[in-house]
Amino acid sequence: MADDHFAPTIKESEIKEDQMKPVRVKGRPILLVRKGNQIFGVSNRCPHEGCSFEGGILRDYLVMCPCHGWKFDIRNGKYTENEATTLETYRCIIQNGKVYVEIKK
Ligand code: FES
Repeated sequence: MADDHFAPTIKESEIKEDQMKPVRVKGRPILLVRKGNQIFGVSNRCPHEGCSFEGGILRDYLVMCPCHGWKFDIRNGKYTENEATTLETYRCIIQNGKVYVEIKK
């Protein structure tokens, strides 16, 4: 891997279309979501009260927190009701059958 900011996670085959997959990368809880050949990564801790998203509902690019229904856009991490509240987003790439997540620091 040319850029060592990218950390390996799961195999590409472990995440199917429209599936959410929680992973932990360098100690961070991250939710991976697959849309076609693209994988999105967002923080898997809701900024409301800290729930994780994997039991929630995914509709198009919105993930709904299972605890109290806050919705976030996985493309930019923004909370739909207040764009000042965002989830951290992580760039993901697929290489050699594996999903890599960019951790900048
Ligand atoms: S913890 Fe996510 S909406 Fe409350």
